[in-house]
Amino acid sequence: MEPSERIRILNALAEHIANGTTADAGGIMRVPMSDFTCPQLLAQEQQAFFGNMPLLMGLSSQLPERGTYWSDNATGMPILMVRDGEGRFRAYANVCRHRGSLVVPEGRGCRDRFTCPFHAWTYGIDGRLLAVNKNDHFGDVSSLGLRLIELPSAELYGTLWVRPTRGDPVNEEECLGGLRDDLIHWNPADYPHAGTQVIDARMNWKLGVVSYGEIYHLKVLHPNTAAKEAHGNVQTFERFGNNYRTVFANRKIDLMRMLMPNRSLWPYRQLTSTVYFFYPNVILMVDTFGVDVLRIFPLEDSPSKSRTIHTWYIDPKVKQRFVDQGLSVDEKLQRFREVVEDEDYVMAADIQTNAECGNQSEIVLGRNEAALQHCHNALRLGVGRDPLPVENV
Ligand code: FES
Ligand SMILES: [Fe+2]
Repeated sequence: MEPSERIRILNALAEHIANGTTADAGGIMRVPMSDFTCPQLLAQEQQAFFGNMPLLMGLSSQLPERGTYWSDNATGMPILMVRDGEGRFRAYANVCRHRGSLVVPEGRGCRDRFTCPFHAWTYGIDGRLLAVNKNDHFGDVSSLGLRLIELPSAELYGTLWVRPTRGDPVNEEECLGGLRDDLIHWNPADYPHAGTQVIDARMNWKLGVVSYGEIYHLKVLHPNTAAKEAHGNVQTFERFGNNYRTVFANRKIDLMRMLMPNRSLWPYRQLTSTVYFFYPNVILMVDTFGVDVLRIFPLEDSPSKSRTIHTWYIDPKVKQRFVDQGLSVDEKLQRFREVVEDEDYVMAADIQTNAECGNQSEIVLGRNEAALQHCHNALRLGVGRDPLPVENV
């Protein structure tokens, strides 16, 4: 994200505020409510998105040094991620070559070898089978070439990507869709992991994804929380392949509009929240305090349930200020939870209930809900369905 790009976005936000406008999708879109309830569609989505596709797992700081690991089952496929002895990011299927148990329970840490909790077969961080417990009794398996099964993975400008099943290498352009320069600018590898929380909700996973894409609802749904920080119904929107970027204006921008006519001097970071959608299921948000990554998955094979895994990565430059203000990581996570779980996801659960009742067959996305229109159509195309038309009204 070049300085000229940041100025262009700040200009667009300032003009929107001055003119009472916002990013415009060019028309409305009608979305069938059965997209949130159909079990067959969910099965297609699970196969297309959560079985075979490279997924953004988190930021590089999850594995800060050689020998660190991160065992994660969120995709539904147990995955063991490591930073190996050469500092390289690698991912393995977290399955023991003996009888198939999990080699490493979920969590993060630092080790030079992994010992399976069932019969103590031991693997190196490079995936090699180092030792078979009571080898002389078990039988010699050295000729079988057993090692942890490596999965396609890539570390892209501070982000970690894994294809949860064996297949082609991870393709950078497919993953980033042109957001390379943005990642280089933010340099996410520099943001240490601060905390993770899980939010389960009674809503289709796509309702979770679209919760973060529009700010039209801000003053109505969040008058006492998020609306105090940001302008409602003001955002920019751009597509990057299957991904998008939308930028919201912090209220501090009003002060700048009054005091500093030269917009090239405006501090982008302090005046905006930049929200990215990384297809198919991740929202990455950059604000003054750091980076929030939200990974959203279907839960229990149900079209009506989803799990959001929220990880907060703190900006090291504001870490001290954060501490000075007496704020704790737990409080920050709790505040986030109060907005998302108690406000956004309550609405989403109501939508889910109404989708299941079937009295209404479709919802309408406005011209000011461009990011939602994009998500719905990108995800439809991803399972081979026709995109929904944008209707000029
Ligand atoms: S299943 Fe891992 S050692 Fe037996
Ligand atoms: Fe919201």
